[in-house]
Amino acid sequence: MGKAEIVDILSRHVPQEQSLIEILHDIQLRFRHLPPETLSEVARHCSVPLARVYSVATFYTAFTFTKKGDTVCRICMGTACHVKGAQLIREEAEKMLGIAPGQTTPDGKYSLEVVNCVGACAMAPVVIVNEAYQGKFRPMDLKKLLGRGE
Ligand code: FES
Repeated sequence: MGKAEIVDILSRHVPQEQSLIEILHDIQLRFRHLPPETLSEVARHCSVPLARVYSVATFYTAFTFTKKGDTVCRICMGTACHVKGAQLIREEAEKMLGIAPGQTTPDGKYSLEVVNCVGACAMAPVVIVNEAYQGKFRPMDLKKLLGRGE
């Protein structure tokens, strides 16, 4: 993690408390997590106590202090997706990647997560790969998605 990158991110935001979420989002986008050492820089930039930055970072489940894989695969386990077979997708993903939800493969390539309804029930079951929604998902689609097909 380079200090210049943090300075660059901070320079793009108005130095005020209202910018906290956007700044944390940009840092996470760049580093795939929130490196703890960056938070004091954020606090200084926004002129807020470090505890305030931590409270925002820990309140929203979208933020994480654990580095994610290059590809983050989120399986929706909301009611509509569950009814349409999300559990089978989850089990297949766990088997293919050898990890449980909340974990990252040892090579750092994939992270697996389960989420609740993401507001796309008409497309159920839904899998989100990084920021891309994929609807009507089938367990067999995982092979192509995870680059582990023939
Ligand atoms: S339950 Fe999966 S998108 Fe709503």
